[in-house]
Amino acid sequence: MRTSRAVLASVRTIRSLVESPRLGEDATVNGWVRSVRRMKKVAFADIGDGTSADTLAVVLTPEQSKQLSTGACVQLSGKLSESPGNQKFELQVAEPVPGKPDPVKVLGPADQSYPLQKKFHTAEYLRTIPSFRWKTLGNSSVLRYRSYAQSRIARYFESAGFTQVSSPIITSSDCEGAGEVFTINSGEPDKNQKQPYFFGDKPAYLSVSSQLHLEVYAAALSRVWNMAPAFRAEKSDTNRHLSEFWMVEAELAFTESLKDVMTVAEQMIRAAVPDSAMAIDIIQSNKQSSSTKQETLKQRWQMLSQPKPWARVTYTEAVELLRKEFPSLKWGDSLSSEQEKHLAAHIIQGPVFVTDYPMHQKPFYMKKNAVSDETKATVACFDLLVPEMGELIGGSLREDDHQTLLSAMNDNNMNPDDLEWYLDLRKYGSFPHGGYGMGFERLVCFVCGVENIREAIGFPRWAGSCVC
Ligand code: 4AD
Repeated sequence: MRTSRAVLASVRTIRSLVESPRLGEDATVNGWVRSVRRMKKVAFADIGDGTSADTLAVVLTPEQSKQLSTGACVQLSGKLSESPGNQKFELQVAEPVPGKPDPVKVLGPADQSYPLQKKFHTAEYLRTIPSFRWKTLGNSSVLRYRSYAQSRIARYFESAGFTQVSSPIITSSDCEGAGEVFTINSGEPDKNQKQPYFFGDKPAYLSVSSQLHLEVYAAALSRVWNMAPAFRAEKSDTNRHLSEFWMVEAELAFTESLKDVMTVAEQMIRAAVPDSAMAIDIIQSNKQSSSTKQETLKQRWQMLSQPKPWARVTYTEAVELLRKEFPSLKWGDSLSSEQEKHLAAHIIQGPVFVTDYPMHQKPFYMKKNAVSDETKATVACFDLLVPEMGELIGGSLREDDHQTLLSAMNDNNMNPDDLEWYLDLRKYGSFPHGGYGMGFERLVCFVCGVENIREAIGFPRWAGSCVC
């Protein structure tokens, strides 16, 4: 036990070296060669291990460097020293000593055909090499932010008294009622054809949202949240739509106020704003980008953490505000992505909750507002819009009256028998409640300045593409 601890202690990640370099000490580092530069008497290599946006400068002899090639996986041992170059420190690789382990160990070689070289690669090219695209500095930072944001969000929910639950991926219902579901048609049905589908007499689908199941959990645990994959069979070829994405969803019992739901959503996002270490990581990963992009990112983080609560306007007010720029826009129209972005970026100049949309635009489960004019019926819902991205979150109060929900389902041409279990929540111990869902990749795009949502997820799927 003591021996293995001692061995591990001398193996350092690049992150631990950056956090506490301990210059003058011996260290062993594992990583992948990003580049090698050979001179007559000395050679330099740049090593990355993905634990940090920093890479490690390594100094070795030209002879030793012959073993290194771009993309190879190596283990290097030597002394940490102050660097005369622009790096803070470097690893001076030890000279080989007969009878002792070689200070340069190639764990996995890579030859000339290695597809990543030390030059700019476009996002489109990187998508064609899914096994390697996460090794670039900018992309690896996105993965570190995903991990950071997930843990901050989990911490926030815990502190706010929410229980984390797990919801099914395979469901029998289309939560949004928009018909954008992937149907599961594989699997052997019953041989006697008594059950025409794998799961029985009805087809099953991939979940578009965990909301309906979260409502069941909320009826038992009061405050619940989850983060789960969501699937949408919509052929939207845009930079903010995926066929498979992750959704963070929360459901709160005992609220009759949309304000409560928006406050939770706002606090959750504030908790995921990069702290100083994460901010340095993202900025460092964008060091090849223009200083304008770096400034934009800092402004976005400041915008999210501004002390004053985020703006809230009703849909009706939003239409009025937008009419100056879009004169043909009228009450009842859906706001286009361009209009959403304009509202947040130029009119509000920050995040904005748009509430109380016309009823006909929204799904069956949203709670109807009391209105005098039925032609202007609205529901107690909100979309959170942010500059340059548009919609980040959708949420609402849920209809908790059995009869009203039934008639909403009828109005939407839905069969109440398909959602009997959901209707039962209104039959027995119905409770006022509301919740929301946030597209996690949209948050990642906004915070990390990722232009296309396909670069915000490990293995993107969209209509026409499912690589590996
Ligand atoms: O507005 P949506 O469709 O709301 C729901 O699904 C609710 N049932 C959630 C709830 O109340 N629990 O989706 C919620 C969010 C959107 O605001 C958007 O950020 C994201 O999910 N989203 C997508 N993200 C990536 N690709 C897509 N195709 C997306 N569709 C929605």
